[in-house]
Amino acid sequence: MAGRSLKCVFLWSEEPTRRLHEAHGIHGRPEAAQLETRHEMIPRIGWTMDVGVRFVSVEQLLRQRGREGYALAREIIEHSDIVLIDGPLYRMSVYQSIEKEVAKMGVPCLDTAANVAHVADMSSYHLALHKQKIPQPRTVLVPLTPEDLAQSDSKEFYRNVIGGRMELLLAKGRIHPTRTKPVFYRTFFSSAVGSNVWMYRAESIVDLAKSSYEIIYDRKGRQDIGGLAVREFLELQSVYPAPMRDLYREYRIFVIGGVPVWYTYYYGLNHVDTKGEKFEDFKKAVALKAATRRSLKNLARKVAGVVPSHFFVIDVAYTKKKKPVVIDLGPGHCAGMAYKIGQVPVLCALLNYAAHIAASPKRLTAKPKIAPDRLIDREQVDKVIDDLGISRRPLECFCGYLNEE
Ligand SMILES: Nc1ncnc2c1ncn2[C@@H]1O[C@H](COP(=O)(O)OP(=O)(O)O)[C@@H](O)[C@H]1O
Ligand SMILES: [Mg+2]
Repeated sequence: MAGRSLKCVFLWSEEPTRRLHEAHGIHGRPEAAQLETRHEMIPRIGWTMDVGVRFVSVEQLLRQRGREGYALAREIIEHSDIVLIDGPLYRMSVYQSIEKEVAKMGVPCLDTAANVAHVADMSSYHLALHKQKIPQPRTVLVPLTPEDLAQSDSKEFYRNVIGGRMELLLAKGRIHPTRTKPVFYRTFFSSAVGSNVWMYRAESIVDLAKSSYEIIYDRKGRQDIGGLAVREFLELQSVYPAPMRDLYREYRIFVIGGVPVWYTYYYGLNHVDTKGEKFEDFKKAVALKAATRRSLKNLARKVAGVVPSHFFVIDVAYTKKKKPVVIDLGPGHCAGMAYKIGQVPVLCALLNYAAHIAASPKRLTAKPKIAPDRLIDREQVDKVIDDLGISRRPLECFCGYLNEE
């Protein structure tokens, strides 16, 4: 278990947090809700584990809140054992600046820029998974240089130059968007899906060049782009009809220190009629039978074996043919979770892992590794869940542990 006097600092950023709250309301979106509940949970876990936890904003640390803000951030971090990032940051350059500042204070930061890049940038993980034959949608990556992006305000440039490049790369990768074989497009760092994946579906190269322009244009300067990922549009197994898009059979797995710790059904119940008769069928379709859970865990272990990130998530969806496919990876610190109960085991595991790293920071540059039974103390998790009065009902079919043998 964790050292009794672990002091950790959670770094969060004012700007993306404010934007999330504005866009979705404080509890409208899992990431936003999570920031709130972490504040509520950490002291309790901290109290039982005797962990000293402080929060500092990224803006303070990066001197955007004046000398006093910086001095305060510095003072807190210098007296801590480890720094963790909490919530979204949209640019790799911000992670790099944080790492540089924190290193000056001689304190390790769990979420190093490299650590994050492995899972935030599809051009990095797609190849790593592909080499191991881990199932993913067939993908063609179209990189965009800063010079390309500087010019991409011009629709003409985008259509002609980038469109031409897209066409060549797609032909090489043997992906030809047609009505019967449409493609899905997103940037290397994120999609624009939100609520409707069907809006990001193209049926021809002309359509693709025209529509993908919008998502590049929208993100420019605010978020990293890296390039455009064009993927085969998969027919996913639908388990519930919902207004904007069906709910698919899709799960998110949290991996800490190389260990798949927890899985959660990807979607919340906002659009589900929990009193209706279809709800029982839906629950049955989502619940993982023991054999499926084992195979999901094996898939996650395979991914963890090739992705050297210390804290990340794997999103897996099942196709209509019931085949699991890795859709996306992402940094754990900004991954939303639809069922609140999961936040307790994940946070406990994270704090225990942070203690393991703080005890020997050079572990951060080695392959992530820890004995699974050192990550979670189930009794402690149960106690926090009870203390906070969090519902256990989702455990019936929507989420659960993956770290047991
Ligand atoms: N190739 C694809 N075919 C069909 N649906 C997809 C495909 N890729 C992603 N999706 C759907 O769109 C959602 C968002 O895409 P994803 O690549 O995970 O981007 P992000 O998480 O950044 O929004 C996924 O959760 C999945 O439901
Ligand atoms: Mg995703």
